[in-house]
Formats: sequence, C-alpha cells, structure tokens
Amino acid sequence: MSSITGKTKICGIIGDPIEHTMSPAMHNAAFEALGLDYIYLPFRVRREELKGAINGIRALNIAGLNVTIPHKSDVIPLLDKLDPLAEGMGAVNTIVSEDGKLIGYNTDAPGFLQALRAKGIEPEGKKVVILGAGGAAKGISFILAEAGASLVILNRTLSRAVALAAQIAKSYGRSAKAMILNEENLKQALPGADVLVNTTSVGMVPDMNETPVPAGLLQPDLTVFDIVYNPRETRLLREAKAASARTIDGLDMLVWQGARAFEKWTGREAPFEVMKQAAVKELADER
Ligand code: ATR
Repeated sequence: MSSITGKTKICGIIGDPIEHTMSPAMHNAAFEALGLDYIYLPFRVRREELKGAINGIRALNIAGLNVTIPHKSDVIPLLDKLDPLAEGMGAVNTIVSEDGKLIGYNTDAPGFLQALRAKGIEPEGKKVVILGAGGAAKGISFILAEAGASLVILNRTLSRAVALAAQIAKSYGRSAKAMILNEENLKQALPGADVLVNTTSVGMVPDMNETPVPAGLLQPDLTVFDIVYNPRETRLLREAKAASARTIDGLDMLVWQGARAFEKWTGREAPFEVMKQAAVKELADER
C-alpha cells in the first residue's frame, strides 16, 4: 500500500460481524493497481450504533462505504437519496458521499447480471429457475425480470416465493411462477430451463455435502449459477460440471458487485482481474 497522507480518501465497509469480509483485500488491491490515493477499511458497527456510523460518514468526510449484514435495510432512512433499484429492493450495499449528500445504491444484483453477461449469457427471453426467495433472490429476480427473462421461483417456504412472484408481476408486469422447493417441482421446472440460480445457503460451509438439486436433474443445456462463494465450488457446481452444464460461481458475483461500487467511488473502471485474484487469495488464506 502506498503511504497514507492528509489527501488520502477513505472508503470502507460497515457490518456485524465483519472479520471475514473480503472487500478490503479486493478494494485495496484495486486502488494500488490503479495508483489511486484511497484506502478501504473494515468497520464493525453494531445495530444500535448504525445511526452514529452514518453520521460519521459526514463528520469524518468518508468518500464511500459498503454496507453488509445486518444493516442493508436499516440504513435506508438514514440516507439522503436512493437509487431506484436500491429503493425497489429495499436494500443498500453501497453509499456514495457526494458533497455531503449520502446516496444509497445496490450493486449486488447488477453484479449478478454482469457475472452472467461476462459468461456470454443475455437474460432476455431466457427461462431462469431461481432457488430461494430471500433478500438475494429478490434483487436477482428483479434485475432478471427487468432484463426480460421469464422466472420460476422455488422456495422452501412457499409463501415467500408467492410474495416475490407477486412483486415481480406488480413492478415489471411479468408473471413469475412460484413453487415449493422439492424434487417433484424441480423435475417440472428444470426441463427447458436455460439458467438455474441457487440463492439459498444450501451447500455453504459448513454444510458442504448438501445440494438443493439432485444431480440427475442437471443437463448440458443448463447454466448453473451458485451465488454461494464459500466454498467456491459447491456440490451443486461440481455436479453441474460433471453433467457438462456451464457453471458460474458466487465469487464472480461478489467481485462484480465490488467492481461496481469501486467505479461509483472513483469514477474509474475497476480492475476486475486484480480484484478477483485478491478475493481468491483471501478465500484461500481463510482456510
Ligand atoms: P439472503 O439475503 O442470502 O437471500 P435470506 O433472506 O435469509 O438470505 O434467505 C435465505 C434463503 O435460503 C431463503 O430462501 C431460505 O428459504 P426459506 O424462505 O424457506 O427460509 C433459503 N434456505 C436457507 N436454508 C435452507 C435449507 N436448508 N433448505 C432450503 N432452503 C433454505
């Protein structure tokens, strides 16, 4: 890292817990690669301290922050302005301070879309099966609906899938199918699907032997995107590869969301490969 001076701009991430974040490694590597006089720091902020932390952005003249669990929704009323996507999702993961005004964005779902497009997949007219109906599924299904994909949402708790499908119909005028996540419904939904996205935590450490989809239902015409990045190769992705399906891992989404935030703070194109290598190294060091 180049030396810190009175001119160094400060960015960072707020969340709780924060020890395992890979964002400082990614962003500091990117600042260094582009020779930018910025530094990125982790801040553990407890729920009850969130308001103080947000006022601190103004008070300390911080250039921008990422926001992670558990603050993505609670931060909204504390900001001056919201980007329409962040407003629709009810979640902010990036704050930009512009002349003392705090603007909230969400780069998670755009990061997902960019990861998909980087592999040559354009969602328009594609049939996408989404597993899960939580916060991550919401952003991903909104951005896919906006891009013209047709959606089937399967979730363990049917009511959440139904609510999400209704929101998509209301906001984007596209009907989305909602089903309970089980083998029978997967057998119905997967034939003819172009993309399968896992947004559930099934397969994430420490439950690495689990998968949300029986291997026999995976086939070569499918692209399987697992947003879980720890482990990088989940059982779902391993079995998808064995079935000759195309695969995209959660690390790409994580790095793309970081790249979008970086661009908002610096106005420069993010060095994606530099950020990805830093994230890969960080993930390996965690083990
Ligand atoms: P996120 O912001 O990562 O989406 P979330 O809002 O807590 O987190 O959502 C977690 C998702 O994983 C939900 O769709 C959840 O299903 P429920 O709505 O039924 O809770 C899903 N999920 C978590 N553990 C699961 C499991 N063991 N089997 C199936 N789905 C699971």
